[in-house]
Amino acid sequence: MEQYVIKGGNPLNGEVEIGGAKNAALAILAAAIMTDETVTVGNVPNVRDIKVLLQAIEEIGAKVERVDAHTVRINGSFIQNVSVDNEFIRRIRASYYLLGALLGKYKKAEVALPGGCDIGSRPIDLHIKGFRALGASVDIAHGLVVAEAKNLVGTHIYLDKVSVGATINIMMAAAMATGKTVIENAAKEPHVVDVANFLNSMGANIRGAGTDVIRIVGVERLHKTEYSVIPDQIEAGTFMFAAAVAGGDVLVKNVIPKHLEATTAKLLEVGCRVREFDDAVRVISDGRLLHTQVTTLPYPGFPTDMQPQMAVLLGIADGTSTVTESIFENRFKYVDELTRMGASIKVESNIAIICGVDRYTGARVNAPDLRAGAALVIAGLAAEGVTIVDDIYYIERGYEAFEEKLKAIGAQIEKAADEKDLQKFILKVS
Ligand code: UD1
Repeated sequence: MEQYVIKGGNPLNGEVEIGGAKNAALAILAAAIMTDETVTVGNVPNVRDIKVLLQAIEEIGAKVERVDAHTVRINGSFIQNVSVDNEFIRRIRASYYLLGALLGKYKKAEVALPGGCDIGSRPIDLHIKGFRALGASVDIAHGLVVAEAKNLVGTHIYLDKVSVGATINIMMAAAMATGKTVIENAAKEPHVVDVANFLNSMGANIRGAGTDVIRIVGVERLHKTEYSVIPDQIEAGTFMFAAAVAGGDVLVKNVIPKHLEATTAKLLEVGCRVREFDDAVRVISDGRLLHTQVTTLPYPGFPTDMQPQMAVLLGIADGTSTVTESIFENRFKYVDELTRMGASIKVESNIAIICGVDRYTGARVNAPDLRAGAALVIAGLAAEGVTIVDDIYYIERGYEAFEEKLKAIGAQIEKAADEKDLQKFILKVS
């Protein structure tokens, strides 16, 4: 099993280029099968979750062509099979987007009940509620979600909770329903807007994405398009926090600064300097950080996917901070690992109370999920000595060339394939 091995203490300096948004790309690639014409999607991150989804799309008969590392061409006219299940797709959350896409196009879909990172109970009741409201019958049998409709008919849907996945999934199915659908209390995340823009570029009629109310007038068919995925706000935020925690001066390029406002606001609060440009943000930190309070919220609030990175920062900030997780109930699994690196954190229900310590000390830790894994790497960058992060499989689900990008801005980090590699690195840096 591969690990990251990190020698802490180097400030980060230089430029880092951010890739396409994983969570937008997953939904867009699923939606690409909704036309029989060829769709080209650019700025697709080359990460594990994307590979798993593309493989599933290929398995049901669609033609998938990798034009280059970040461009994919999909033709959904060859689809024979609306049943999606394999051991890999079962593990990714975004497999549920194939439900909305297949149901919208073929009025039938069978997709493995989604897995994903273990950050709490991740129901799909709102997705199901939406599909049923559009006239589909939905059952769960033998580990599959089975949705079927004679006709999907536009309707009024109120989401009891703001859900990114349910909003996008219902939007996809409704794009090819008869008549008008209104989704109220919709998620406003940038990737919801990106998927709506993508569907509209295929001929869909979706208005209001990015607000609480999305209105969709169904169309009979969708057509070919060429589209480029938006930059990944979480990858960008992760590098911004890496610079803040390790100290240094990093220009994070190819971003939409507006999407990073909550992240930027918190960095300013803890004493970093942040400069915004048209498509870049620069973070300058002397490593001295101040305490603060943060609560995760749906966009435009502070993203839950930046919560572990925030906690790592506050772990070495001056004074006592709190981090309240309001989206997923089990997102503090990294706390025990961080404690092994010297952090002083107490979790009470959904609140982490963090007493800042002077420094982290290197230790061997496990990445419990994607974002927490990245956060532990950031802790390692600021730690005294060597940190080994195991289970980097999780990190590779969502970060492309993570260690290479960090190395290019001055981090001492290697991906080790085995104990021999590990020892070699430790010898080199000690
Ligand atoms: C997506 C992202 C994930 C991010 C999350 C919140 C993908 C593949 N994943 O996950 O990285 O952390 O948005 O920004 O894009 N809920 C229900 N019933 C449902 C659906 C959701 O109760 O049917 C609840 C969830 O348990 C959670 C909240 O709603 O408490 C928000 O979840 P949601 O926005 O749906 O997250 P995901 O789409 O799973």
